[in-house]
Amino acid sequence: MDDRCGMGSEEDGVDEGEAWVRATTVAQVRSRGAVQTQIDGREVVLVLAPDGSVACLDARCYHHGGELAPGKVKHVGGRACIVCPWHKYPITLDTGEGLYTALDGVVKSKGVMQRVHPVRVTDNGHIWVRLAVGGPRIESDTYADPQPEPDADGVVVLPNGARVIYPQPRS
Ligand code: FES
Repeated sequence: MDDRCGMGSEEDGVDEGEAWVRATTVAQVRSRGAVQTQIDGREVVLVLAPDGSVACLDARCYHHGGELAPGKVKHVGGRACIVCPWHKYPITLDTGEGLYTALDGVVKSKGVMQRVHPVRVTDNGHIWVRLAVGGPRIESDTYADPQPEPDADGVVVLPNGARVIYPQPRS
């Protein structure tokens, strides 16, 4: 079993310049239902949707970071979702919306809470993913891309080595 990611290849006809990364194969997703892997250091999960297509989301649930890979895939309010195994929150596979059932029994959306990454499937059964990480932070970034906490002096050292000083609370 090989979940390692690869870069674009002529064999697949996928252009590396567009940042597509080979994630896994359709056969792997079909046999396991979900495949969790890393793309450029980000944990994602590839899930088989009820219609046979493949969706890719951040691997940890926006709510409290539960791993989505063991979650059930089913329709909720007519939409294909993965249901987080921790607290049973449904997340739509196409948009990453968090769904809930309101007091009137109607399934409603909280808005986009989980990042969904574009997927391409090539003729030879390889699945390619392009991370969609631009724009403002959303809830699932809390677990997929945690921000460093300031130290006792209010200093945060970013991954690129830059130091950011946060204002200290007045005593
Ligand atoms: S951690 Fe997923 S529903 Fe709570």
